[in-house]
Amino acid sequence: MSVKRSSIHGQWSSRWAFILAATGSAVGLGNIWRFPYLTGENGGGAFVLVYLVCVVMVGIPIMMAEILLGRRGRQSPIHTMETLAAEEGLSPHWKLLGWMGVVAGFIILSYYSVIAGWTLAYIFRIGAGVFVDADAGLSKKIFTDLISDPEKLLAWHTTFLIMSVIVVSRGVKNGLEQAVKFLMPTLFILLLIMVGYAMSTDKFVEGMSYLFVPNFELLAEKNFFSDIFLPALGQAFFSLSIGMGAIMIYGSYLSQKSSITFNCFTIAIADTSVAILAGIAIFPIVFTYGLEPAGGPGLIFITLPIAFGQMPFGTFFGCLFFILLLFAAWTSAISLLEPAVTWLVENRNMTRVKAAALAGAIAWLLGLVTVLSFNHWAFSFNFAGSVKENGFFDIFDILTSNIMLPIGGLLVAIFAAWLMSRKSTVEELGLGDGAAYQAWHFAVKYIAPFGVIIIFLNAIGLFRLLGLGE
Ligand code: PFF
Repeated sequence: MSVKRSSIHGQWSSRWAFILAATGSAVGLGNIWRFPYLTGENGGGAFVLVYLVCVVMVGIPIMMAEILLGRRGRQSPIHTMETLAAEEGLSPHWKLLGWMGVVAGFIILSYYSVIAGWTLAYIFRIGAGVFVDADAGLSKKIFTDLISDPEKLLAWHTTFLIMSVIVVSRGVKNGLEQAVKFLMPTLFILLLIMVGYAMSTDKFVEGMSYLFVPNFELLAEKNFFSDIFLPALGQAFFSLSIGMGAIMIYGSYLSQKSSITFNCFTIAIADTSVAILAGIAIFPIVFTYGLEPAGGPGLIFITLPIAFGQMPFGTFFGCLFFILLLFAAWTSAISLLEPAVTWLVENRNMTRVKAAALAGAIAWLLGLVTVLSFNHWAFSFNFAGSVKENGFFDIFDILTSNIMLPIGGLLVAIFAAWLMSRKSTVEELGLGDGAAYQAWHFAVKYIAPFGVIIIFLNAIGLFRLLGLGE
């Protein structure tokens, strides 16, 4: 029996609308802010290589599975999992997977919004010309002044969350589709301009080899699984927006005719290219100005403005860059709210506007913890071979990206490949039952789940405790 449900929340107007919106969700602070600083903290080339492996072997197959579940269920992730579990004769507790996603979404959005707030603040700082001819010292000072002032952070965090709530309350189709259509390509072009600038610096080659050549000496000092693999895996989930129902809910608006495989590859290629371009733009500047690659979450906010301060029309390009980064963050934040909002609409009979406002208010409150993590409540701890200096912000980030999203993805893979009938997945994926389907099925059934499990077990040191492995 083929399932022909339709979503009460609407449907994308075309395949490209879905691809653009899902790319809007995937491309965000994760690519331009988080990827470079994690690469810097984790030693460069080895991290990048492992990241790419995680995207291809784990990320893409799980993304396909998540979209497949979303399109078949056509409701909020919580109800989708409940309905699909009932259809396959499984426990209704599968809805907990949807719940975990909603909780992860709130936690991520709460700190994501604070960082997006930095982006907002930087549009005005660069626009005011404060970075013209700035050196590394001045750039660092401007950044430190911002994050050590909780009132400023709170104001920007509030502004960004209100912006996100407004778009979500209008419905994902109205507004979002239009916005992403021209913003994403413009961001891409601007990144290419930044790469052009990076190529003109003296340390371009050094930056490139840092990014692309694994440093084996450094690898020997690190625990490969906990220090490289786990953060890379977490970054793959975070960057592709998988493991928490965001891409599942976007899949629920996808027309039955559209090819999940083609869409996923397009989204993953766009997402990965933006991250790599950001790395190429940033590391030559880091080395040219003698900055520390392991500088943590402030990395792009300290490095890029120096470049804008030096290049011709830098104030213009700098403003434009941070505006586009803001939009990229905006289109991602929307997808972080969407699972909770659809659930509230379905279950609590709320209007979209009320549901969005309530969800936004919860994320806002939680965001206060992150606001204070950079100043009054700051404390440091060691994680994955690097020192994390921003207490609760780092804990939220690690808990969601490195733990909750991979567990969510693992459960999606188990559900789609081990528990759902083959007939259902063949039907939904629309690839037939040939080699392409089998390759996907093998990846979701074996590679992705065992990959996640092996990385987890290694990261918590179980294999070492048992005397196996390193
Ligand atoms: N993928 C987004 C980024 O890279 O900035 C962040 C994100 C959005 C993570 C949606 C998770 C999610 F569900």
